Amino acid sequence: MNNELISKLCDLHDLSDEELGCLINERTPEDAKRLAAEASELRDRVYGKKVFMRGLIEFTSYCRNDCLYCGLRRSNHNAQRYRLTKEEILSCAENGYMLGFRTFVLQGGEDPYFTDDVLCDIVSSLKEIYPDCAVTLSVGERSLGSYKQLYYAGADRYLLRHETADADHYGILHPKELKLSHRMECLSDLKSIGYQTGCGFMVGSPYQSTESIVKDLRFIKSFSPEMVGIGPFIPHCDTPYRNQKAGTLEFTLFLLSIVRLMLPDVLLPATTALGTIAENGRELGIMAGANVVMPNLSPNDVRKKYSLYDNKLCSGDEAAENVNELRRRIESTGYKLVTDRGDHIRFSK
Ligand code: 5AD
Repeated sequence: MNNELISKLCDLHDLSDEELGCLINERTPEDAKRLAAEASELRDRVYGKKVFMRGLIEFTSYCRNDCLYCGLRRSNHNAQRYRLTKEEILSCAENGYMLGFRTFVLQGGEDPYFTDDVLCDIVSSLKEIYPDCAVTLSVGERSLGSYKQLYYAGADRYLLRHETADADHYGILHPKELKLSHRMECLSDLKSIGYQTGCGFMVGSPYQSTESIVKDLRFIKSFSPEMVGIGPFIPHCDTPYRNQKAGTLEFTLFLLSIVRLMLPDVLLPATTALGTIAENGRELGIMAGANVVMPNLSPNDVRKKYSLYDNKLCSGDEAAENVNELRRRIESTGYKLVTDRGDHIRFSK
C-alpha cells in the first residue's frame, strides 16, 4: 500500500511525476479506498455535503471533426444527425428551470450552422429569461474572437476537454488536422477571457499509458481549471475503435480521487459515461470525490441520436425529468442535491 505517497498528496495537493506514476502503477484496492475517503473529506471541507446539478442540452449532433473515438465523427454515416432550434432549446431550459436546474450546459458537435451570431442570440436569450442561471458552453474549438463574443453574450463557463496532454497520444486519437497545441491555445484563451473553464480526459482511451495520464494530471494541476470532466472511454460500434476495450470503473474512480486531492476546489462531475459502465457509477463517483451531476434535458426524441459511445444512458436517473429519483440516490450516499448555480469556490487552507 502506498500510504506515504497518499499522505504526501493530501498534504501538498501534488506529487512529482515519478510519484504519480508509482501511485497509479502500484495501486491497490486499499489505496483506492483511502484516496476516496480523503478526497471526500476534502470536498466536504470546501463545498460541504452538496452535489450540484447541471441540465445538459445536447443541441446538435452534427460535427465537422473526425475524432477516432467518437460516435458523432463526420465519417460515421450511420449517425443520426439533428439540430435543435432556438425555440426547442429555450423550451428545454424552461422545463429544466421548473425542475430546479440553475445551470444549463449547451453541448454539441462542432456544427458550422451555429455561427457566432446564431449561438450568441441563443445565449443572450437564455440569460435574459433566466438571469439567475449560469450558461455553460461545450461546443469545441473556436477562435478567440468567437469565445469573446459568446462571453459578452452572457456565457459563464466553457467545457473543452483536452482529451490527452500527450501530443503523440493526441495524434493517435485525432485526425491530423487536430493538434494538441491548438486545443491548449483554446483553453488558455477561454481562461484569459474570464470563463470558468473545464478541461478533462477519457480514462482507458486506446493507447493511453501511465506516462500520458501523468501528463494529464500535470497539465490539470498547472492549468488549474474550475472544472474537470473525467469519464471512462467506451467504444462506439461505428468508429475505428469499435473493438477497443472500455476504461474501467475502478481506474476512473481512482483518478477522480487524485484530481480532487490535487485541486481541492474543482467542480468534478460524476459523468454519464461513469453511470453507463456501472449501475451505481454516479454514486460511487460522488463517494470518490466528485460533486456534480449533469442529467439530460434534451427532448426525448433526440436523446438516442446523441450517441458518443455505445449504450449511452439517456433515460432513468440520467433523464432530468427523473431528478427526484436521482436526488433519492444521491441522498442515500449522505449528500444533498442542491438547486444552486454552483459556482466555483476558491479554496484556501
Ligand atoms: N467514450 C467516452 N467518452 C467519449 N467522448 C467522446 N467519445 C467518447 C467515447 N467513445 C467524450 C470526449 C468529449 C466528450 C463530449 O465526450 O471526451 O470531449
